[in-house]
Amino acid sequence: MANLKTNIGKLEIKNPVMTASGTFGFGTEYEDFIDISRLGGILVKGITGAERQGNPYPRMAETPSGMLNAVGLQNKGIDYFVEHIYPEISKFDTEIIVNVNGGTIEEYIDVASKVEKLNKIKAIELNISCPNVKQGGMVFGTHCPSAVAVTQAVRNAYSKTLMVKLSPNVTNIVDFALAVEEAGADSISLINTLLGMAIDAKTRKPLLSTITGGLSGPAVKPVALRMVWQVAKSVKIPVIGMGGIMNATDAIEFFLAGASAIQVGTANFINPAVTIEILEGINEYLDNNGFSCLSEIVGALDI
Ligand SMILES: Cc1cc2nc3c(=O)[nH]c(=O)nc-3n(C[C@H](O)[C@H](O)[C@H](O)COP(=O)(O)O)c2cc1C
Repeated sequence: MANLKTNIGKLEIKNPVMTASGTFGFGTEYEDFIDISRLGGILVKGITGAERQGNPYPRMAETPSGMLNAVGLQNKGIDYFVEHIYPEISKFDTEIIVNVNGGTIEEYIDVASKVEKLNKIKAIELNISCPNVKQGGMVFGTHCPSAVAVTQAVRNAYSKTLMVKLSPNVTNIVDFALAVEEAGADSISLINTLLGMAIDAKTRKPLLSTITGGLSGPAVKPVALRMVWQVAKSVKIPVIGMGGIMNATDAIEFFLAGASAIQVGTANFINPAVTIEILEGINEYLDNNGFSCLSEIVGALDI
């Protein structure tokens, strides 16, 4: 068995397979399907300061090789998480990472400071890339000075591992990656969903209530791989790759492009046990190709 340990800033995780925020609930929803303790980590559903109702239905649509969503960060707010959800999920023998969201910098700081007090949680992922909310989210992630400002502010308020999740909806992803690294990020997660839309020709209506939404699944994988590769060779901090990972081969491609760990999103909706299959497949690939640890293939693309 190869050594699968990997690092995200100060945080060491037992293996590189994590679940992507918004696609795995709080983990409890999947307990009947898989042994959660085998995962490297769980990125819980996006959390804001105040409760959010999310966007009106319909807010999901299937598209060729992918899906569009416009959930809009529906959640009960950080105080509810601390009181009711955290006690239940602290039992998991895996890293729990909170996906932090806000409409203002103050809201991001509020959520981050409350999470800092939770012993079990050693890292947060700052989501500055949600395309489905009017305020905040992608507004921070597509304007470089705002991305820097929110990263710096949270860095000053939060001392544990700070992951920053970037939006792919920009012209030059490397500029954003370098800017948030400089602002204090410990790692970079990418990609969040690509802005898209779908239309029903019969009804002549959009398929989503919000008209546009975030595209995920295999359709986005080539874009995600390209961005991971570009960013990984430009920054010194670890890159966490995601976007259309459906099986172990997809995951291996992300490691070769330079990702130190991966997250699995849309695939969880199709096969709730996919993360474990991916983990086993990574192990098999390393063993069959004579690698003794994961780090040997990170960034090992032969060009
Ligand atoms: C239904 C749904 C909800 C999501 N919610 C969040 C969220 O709350 N926070 C976040 O950072 N990303 C969210 N995402 C984006 C995913 O975490 C991931 O970045 C994206 O889907 C690409 O990975 P995938 O192709 O494997 O799904 C969501 C994606 C989906 C499909």
